[in-house]
Amino acid sequence: MNEKRPIGLFDSGVGGLTVSRHIFRYLPEESTIYFGDNARVPYGSRSREELMTFAAQILTFLLSRGAKYIIFACNTNSSLTLPAMRRRFGVPMIGLIEPGAAEAARVTRRGRVGVIATEATVKSGAYQAALKAAAPGLEVFAQAAPRLVPLVEGGRFGTRESLEAVREYVEPLKKAGIDTLILGCTHYPFLWEEFRTALGPEVVLVDPAEATVKAAREELARLGLLGGPGGPVEHRYYVSGDPLPLVAAARRFLGLDGVRVEKVTLD
Ligand code: DGL
Repeated sequence: MNEKRPIGLFDSGVGGLTVSRHIFRYLPEESTIYFGDNARVPYGSRSREELMTFAAQILTFLLSRGAKYIIFACNTNSSLTLPAMRRRFGVPMIGLIEPGAAEAARVTRRGRVGVIATEATVKSGAYQAALKAAAPGLEVFAQAAPRLVPLVEGGRFGTRESLEAVREYVEPLKKAGIDTLILGCTHYPFLWEEFRTALGPEVVLVDPAEATVKAAREELARLGLLGGPGGPVEHRYYVSGDPLPLVAAARRFLGLDGVRVEKVTLD
């Protein structure tokens, strides 16, 4: 199959780049179109109604640019808007929650799984439900971490400030004796070293994006939507606010120099 249209992905800002890197690795023949809604970041403190409006606008944009398949590169939207958007738009879509939960259920040794995520994701109960569905005996400990997204958007990862913030948020999870932690917000893999330092080497860190992109690859194959070999591969980036944070994060996190990011207005 040779379906050259791009995969669309979206997030509130730079977090979705942690999903892009797995697309580049596992789906190297796919073009992508990325939307970072950084004029309205953070999403984690917003209501479901607001997020529904934003998601519908972004999906309309991505589909108008020819997206053949959508990866929700945002846990908050994966938790709160994905089922409704699937019903509304007739395109195949995947989110991070089920693949991330299944991966955590697979790797946990003692069945004590932590989830760190935005307030909205934690409150939605989506990970808690998906983990119980994946393995009913699991003990799940969820922690909201509202200070982390602004730190990452501001490029302040790898700092003393980010380490202190992560230390504070994981303290209750450490006390609960988790053996596995789901990084349940796509901004958090930018803070991988901070989590590793704060939790020590024993706790397994799960980035749901990896399992999600592998599941997307299977679904694309099943639907006859894989890009296939040959032809140009192109990655386009759009934001609703300042393009610079995405340019900087792509450089620091993905080693991509000078990506072109275009600002667009959605309505
Ligand atoms: N990166 C998104 C997530 O995975 C949204 C974070 C936010 O804007 O609060 O939840």
